[in-house]
Amino acid sequence: MAALIQAVQVTRAFGGLVAVNSVDFSVRRGQMKALIGPNGAGKSTLLNLLTGITPVTSGDIIIDGSSIRGRPAFHAATLGLARTFQNVRLFENMTVIENVMVGCHSWTRQGIASGALRWIGHWREERLIIEESHRQLGRVGLEAEAGADAASLPFGKQRMLEIARALAGHPQVLMLDEPASGLSTRETAELSSLLRQIVSEGVTVLLVDHDMQFVMDISDEVTVLDQGRTIAEGTPEQVQSDAAVIAAYLGTEPN
Ligand SMILES: Nc1ncnc2c1ncn2[C@@H]1O[C@H](COP(=O)(O)OP(=O)(O)O)[C@@H](O)[C@H]1O
Ligand SMILES: [Mg+2]
Repeated sequence: MAALIQAVQVTRAFGGLVAVNSVDFSVRRGQMKALIGPNGAGKSTLLNLLTGITPVTSGDIIIDGSSIRGRPAFHAATLGLARTFQNVRLFENMTVIENVMVGCHSWTRQGIASGALRWIGHWREERLIIEESHRQLGRVGLEAEAGADAASLPFGKQRMLEIARALAGHPQVLMLDEPASGLSTRETAELSSLLRQIVSEGVTVLLVDHDMQFVMDISDEVTVLDQGRTIAEGTPEQVQSDAAVIAAYLGTEPN
């Protein structure tokens, strides 16, 4: 099956440091794919390259058959790519539900270029946005906090809010950078079932995380990066028994 997202011989250098080095990587439609590796391996950089936030130094990124080279950073959103960040990024001066409403912009008539809520024009559209935002808050268990200030939420709930905002845009691909980091065991279990549900609805998920049990439990396929290069790829079972992976990563304490 053709890849929905493909990195072809992608390299990204920051000055003399090569963060991602000639990487071939792909995600198939409908897959739950994980990217793991030690700190500094290049995982977040690869996500930034795949979404066009960071331009490639060389190589190409193909989304749904088309190269995104030279496209502006917001282009990925118009292709249905949504993501969350390693350091949660919320609008802290807005309420919980307002944060999710912002995520609806990709399917509203105002479109992607608008940057605030006040120009959401027609009342009927605004009502649809509010209904959809409540629905997404319900999915992540934050319905009761809809009117609270986003900044007042505990950390785990801020992570779930960021996911709700991403889902509100009805993405075809959801990329998550360390979503389980800082979550309790119970919150991680809730996150697992939410991600399984999302995939069962046809959304493709690409996940970066350090929590091995979480990653190995839910992923169809795992790619391991180390020092900017792919060192292994396969099913969770294959990757966990790979000698290079054990040496580079699993055998040592994750940091
Ligand atoms: N914007 C940047 N400027 C300079 N160096 C960067 C930048 N982003 C990442 N790096 C470097 O690239 C390497 C890979 O980083 P990153 O992709 O964040 O790794 P990971 O997410 O796997 O921990 C690290 O050495 C990091 O310091
Ligand atoms: Mg990272």
